[in-house]
Amino acid sequence: MRPLIKTELPGPRGKAIIAQDESCTSPSYIKEYPLVADRGQGCFIDDVDGNRFLDMMAGIAVSSTGYAHPHVMGAVRESLEKVWHICGTDFYTESFSRLCTKLSGYVPGMGKKRVFLTNSGTEAIEGAIKLARFHTKRKGLMSFYGGFHGRTMGALSLTASKIRQREHFGPFLPGVVHAEYPDVLRRPAGMTPEECGLEAIRKIENQLFNRVVSPDELAAIFVEPIQGEGGYVVPPKSFLKGLRGLCDRHGIMLVFDEVQSGVGRTGEMYAADYFDIAPDILLTAKGLGSGLPIGAIIAREEVMDWTRGSHGSTFGGNNVSCAAAIATLEVVEKILPDIRKNGELLTVGLKKLAERHPCIIDVRGPGFMVGMELADPITRQPVPNLMAQLEQMAFREGLLLLGCGASTIRFAPPLICGPHEIAIALEILDRCLARCLAPSS
Ligand SMILES: Cc1ncc(COP(=O)(O)O)c(C=O)c1O
Repeated sequence: MRPLIKTELPGPRGKAIIAQDESCTSPSYIKEYPLVADRGQGCFIDDVDGNRFLDMMAGIAVSSTGYAHPHVMGAVRESLEKVWHICGTDFYTESFSRLCTKLSGYVPGMGKKRVFLTNSGTEAIEGAIKLARFHTKRKGLMSFYGGFHGRTMGALSLTASKIRQREHFGPFLPGVVHAEYPDVLRRPAGMTPEECGLEAIRKIENQLFNRVVSPDELAAIFVEPIQGEGGYVVPPKSFLKGLRGLCDRHGIMLVFDEVQSGVGRTGEMYAADYFDIAPDILLTAKGLGSGLPIGAIIAREEVMDWTRGSHGSTFGGNNVSCAAAIATLEVVEKILPDIRKNGELLTVGLKKLAERHPCIIDVRGPGFMVGMELADPITRQPVPNLMAQLEQMAFREGLLLLGCGASTIRFAPPLICGPHEIAIALEILDRCLARCLAPSS
């Protein structure tokens, strides 16, 4: 399969749908470019006018097994024939228990675990805030600049990614402090990446803990082990290890927000395994249901000690979503080595492009969580216009891309993406970069 553009974009049917949409939907929606999706197959999406696109963003790291994966489709169909909903908070289904069993088997370093199922990433964050407070009987929370944890009020209080997401929505949860996330790319000359991670930990100890918040009042530190929305920023291992040490010393819960980095995206089931660091609480969503809404709070058994009735969710752990999640995990478990291998192929290809296009100043990230940072090659300042131009141009060539951070393109394709799709993506990208950078005549 290859991308195929047959009409102007959007085509006539797409135009009509967009016009209808614009007449009645919330103006807060972003709508990156005029893609009107109709059906998907593998790594490809057809729009309503019969144009075909190669998807390198998977609906923001969600369609983990690609579109219409037969194993996932089969499980969902079977579940649809049985029972759709019974409310997992109050009653039992087999798939609910099977999924929780499966999820509690990953990240062995966390020891024995318990699982609470949610509908989304932000609901998992909200639940984790409550769980950490319940367990520690403390109120304070820490998260990081550049971090994105969702848009409901608790999660938004932790989020510090783009001001537009927060302005006019405060006041936020009291007791939240933000710290610096290590920026290896812009570290001072002579400093190693590992030193850069340790420096971020020293700042937390010497500045925040000495001047702003006592560590004894912190219930939890929320961190994305790789920042997603903030720019696919990969921290040095020393940073996450340092956070683990701080939490151990002060009785703080270490919460890994793996909503974006989880379910095989890094080539390990969870980034916690990639870094070999075990949090107290791990949050997962996005790719878990291959597109059906489901998330989870996974906590060490002694941490998940809230009592009967203290937390619940009507739809969390919906039976159909659970079936999709079990099937998704079964597929992903088998392809982890392919994700590592093909992710490397993509990274090597992007690094080759960087040799020809100096606006690419960095290519980073494990597996299929790869960021390509664009910047002015001389000043090294971000170039958000170039990123937007590249997204639009690639779309018109049949390639779906998505930006993050100030000017980084994130490559988060379906995890089944292989050499054929990678070659097509690199070829289109090369052409678009050459055109973007050509002086307009
Ligand atoms: C790391 C991270 N946490 C939380 C969220 C919020 O998830 P949701 O949009 O499912 O509420 C996101 C969404 O992009 C995310 O990337």
